[in-house]
Amino acid sequence: MASMMMAECIASVRKMLAEKRLEGKTISLVPTMGALHDGHRSCMEIAGNEGDILVVSIYINPKQFGPSEDLSRYPRMLEKDLEFCERMGCDVVFVPDDEEMYPASQDAWVTVERFAEPLCGRTRPGHFRGVATVVAKLFNIVDPDVAVFGQKDAQQAVVIREMVRQLNFRVRLVLSSIVREPDGLAVSSRNAYLNPEERKQAGGLYDSLLAGRALLEGGERDPKSVTGAVRDRMIEHGIRDVEYAELLRADDLSILERAEGKVILALAARLDTTRLIDNLVLELLADGSVRETLLF
Ligand code: PAF
Repeated sequence: MASMMMAECIASVRKMLAEKRLEGKTISLVPTMGALHDGHRSCMEIAGNEGDILVVSIYINPKQFGPSEDLSRYPRMLEKDLEFCERMGCDVVFVPDDEEMYPASQDAWVTVERFAEPLCGRTRPGHFRGVATVVAKLFNIVDPDVAVFGQKDAQQAVVIREMVRQLNFRVRLVLSSIVREPDGLAVSSRNAYLNPEERKQAGGLYDSLLAGRALLEGGERDPKSVTGAVRDRMIEHGIRDVEYAELLRADDLSILERAEGKVILALAARLDTTRLIDNLVLELLADGSVRETLLF
């Protein structure tokens, strides 16, 4: 496709993509809420290689924000985002507004019950219902062959995987590994909220995950000891408002009595008003070694 096309309404994006499908092209989708960064770059690179036509959606979905969350201050920078997409070789950018996505009261929801309950589900009630619903809508609108998500939002990825599997969506999901700043901080649109002191502390999140990993590498298999070390390290970094540090089975986010197989070490913390999440997905191998891997 010669130059990037932009669609604001569902009918036009469907028309553009129907034409491409008639030409035998496959479609890959990267759903985003804008404020694009290197994490999105990585998703777009993967999506560009996985399909012929690269579609990026930019939509800040109000249904995944709770009443006291950061919807109103979420970074909005459409012009820069469109330039980013153009530079990345996107073919179609879908930029709907709320009227287009939710023209009437939303009564039909997608809930992925068990997988939305642990971790972020405890403090963000309704969040994954909002995510699953908008992603289902985007899948129905774009009908992608492939969709790419970041592993940084690990629980989101599991919720979407289950939605696709259990509701028989035809899309194939691909994950992109976490992109980190030089000090280890996972790139995120929300990093922009941090003041210099908080930004420095935020680098301690990854270091805290590494403290947990080091214990696993040393043979520790008690989840509480591992997450205790993660919490202690966060506190050493001055991160006092720890929402959770958990070691769970990676496949279904269930509780482990003893660490084994593929595990996810996940944390969430608040630095003043900014809530950040991060994780490591690790495979505990039979020879005792530990390997970082993708959720799926
Ligand atoms: O990860 C995000 O940016 C959002 O949760 C998503 C998947 C675009 C749905 O709004």
